[in-house]
Amino acid sequence: MEELNKALKCAFATTYAFLVKAENFHWNVTGSDFLQYHELFGKIYDEVEDELDDFAEKLRAHSIYVPASFTQLKDHSTITDTLEVLPKNEMVRTLYIDNIKVHECLLAAYQLAEANKYPGLGAFLSERIDAHHKHGWMLFSSMQPT
Ligand SMILES: [Fe+2]
Repeated sequence: MEELNKALKCAFATTYAFLVKAENFHWNVTGSDFLQYHELFGKIYDEVEDELDDFAEKLRAHSIYVPASFTQLKDHSTITDTLEVLPKNEMVRTLYIDNIKVHECLLAAYQLAEANKYPGLGAFLSERIDAHHKHGWMLFSSMQPT
C-alpha cells in the first residue's frame, strides 16, 4: 500500500508540474505562428486542469494528503523546471518529453491500483493515461516537418 501511495503522489505531482509548464508555454510562446502554439499549449493545459481537482480528491479518498505545496510538487514530480523562455520548437519538444514522464508515473500508479484491487482508481488512472497519450500525439505531430 505504501508503494501505491508513493506512486499516486508522484503521478499527481508530475501531472501538476506538467500543467504548470504547459500554461507557462501557453503564455510565453512567441513567433509568427504564435496563435497555433498558444492554442496547442492551451488545449493541453485546459484538459489537464479540468481533471486535476478530481485527481487530488482521489488521493484524499485514499487517505493521502495531496502534495500540492511548491516544495512538495518539486519533491514528488519527475519533471524538472524550465527557467528560460525557450523557442517554440523547444517548448514542444520539452513538453513532449515531460508528457512521457507523466505517462510513466500514471502507468506505475495504475498498475499498483489494479494490483491492490482498486478498480475505480484504476479506471480514473487509465483515463488519464489515455488523455496523455492524446497529448503526446498532438505534441509529436507538431514536431514533424511540414
Ligand atoms: Fe489563455
